Amino acid sequence: MQAISEQEREAQFQAKIDRGEIIEAKDWMPERYRKQLIRMMSQHAHSEVVGMLPEGNWITRAPSLRRKAVLLAKVQDEGGHGLYIYCGTETLGISREQMLDDLLSGKAKYSSIFNYPTLTWADIGAIGWLVDGAAIINQTALAKCSYGPYARAMVRICKEENFHHKQGYEILATLMRGTAEQKAMAQDAMNRWWWPSLMMFGPSDANSPNSDELMRWKVKRYSNDELRTRFVDRTVPQAENIGLKVPDADLKYNEQTRSYEFGEINWEEFFNVIKGNGICNKERLMARKKAHAEGAWVREAAEAYAKKKATKNAAA
Ligand code: 3HC
Repeated sequence: MQAISEQEREAQFQAKIDRGEIIEAKDWMPERYRKQLIRMMSQHAHSEVVGMLPEGNWITRAPSLRRKAVLLAKVQDEGGHGLYIYCGTETLGISREQMLDDLLSGKAKYSSIFNYPTLTWADIGAIGWLVDGAAIINQTALAKCSYGPYARAMVRICKEENFHHKQGYEILATLMRGTAEQKAMAQDAMNRWWWPSLMMFGPSDANSPNSDELMRWKVKRYSNDELRTRFVDRTVPQAENIGLKVPDADLKYNEQTRSYEFGEINWEEFFNVIKGNGICNKERLMARKKAHAEGAWVREAAEAYAKKKATKNAAA
């Protein structure tokens, strides 16, 4: 049988994608498709794990036992999401060690949003409601992406994100029914987390070098701007419902498009943060490096146990 050219293979792959078929780990895929998925999925996993830090900061300071228990559950979920997506990324042939090296060396990115500090308890509400709310919009789309292991991981993760989103909104709704100081704390958190949450969806479509390819391969099902607008349309009514003001003087509802128009995002701030110059970038990476070093004994013990078990099984 005549060998088919690389070009022909890529054409067959694209036809498979166009037919809406799911790509599995054992299927042939263009090297570029594999590399793009490793980049996107590993950075997603890094985001989940680094995202535990700003919220973990408030576990010991939660205002009640119930809030502490809920926050503990959420932070634990995020760790699980990270592990889930790291495992999904390993199906593409990259090792966990390599991914962690890329994060700790600063080579790999994680979501810009986690480089902002959590200054008050209201920030925990804002993260759950806005950050996880943005993640739900993004991840619901990814649950229909062409790479099977990624899409399936999103199905389970989105279920847990919905709990995260609700508990965050409940924290802010409670504060907005409280004292003047509590209302001011909630509005302050809204003012600090609103724009960085819009930045989570990435640069504008015109400045998104990866989107065309990812959309052609149905990894991304919607563009950065489409998902950002979907997030604003869903979130503004929720803010109004509890009396929070959206910090955007240009926000207005367009009756024709039945969607909100909003002000210009501070892209200089966005690119500065993803370049490593955000408020907490250095602190976050230091915390991850410290945790990795302190966890070395656990990895060594697990490896020694696995080796001993393998030797015993081989001898049996
Ligand atoms: N933070 C950091 N880097 C970002 C970014 C952000 N918010 N948005 C874009 N970038 C980076 C991209 O990684 C890319 O850099 P690279 O080529 O060096 O990786 C560059 O900016 C250009 O952006 P593009 O739009 O071309 O990149 P993508 O097409 O990959 O789109 C994305 C960016 C929308 C974040 C996409 O990668 C994506 O959907 N990723 C999966 C979802 C994800 O990672 N979510 C992170 C949040 S996880 C979370 O919130 C957990 C929740 O439980 C709290």
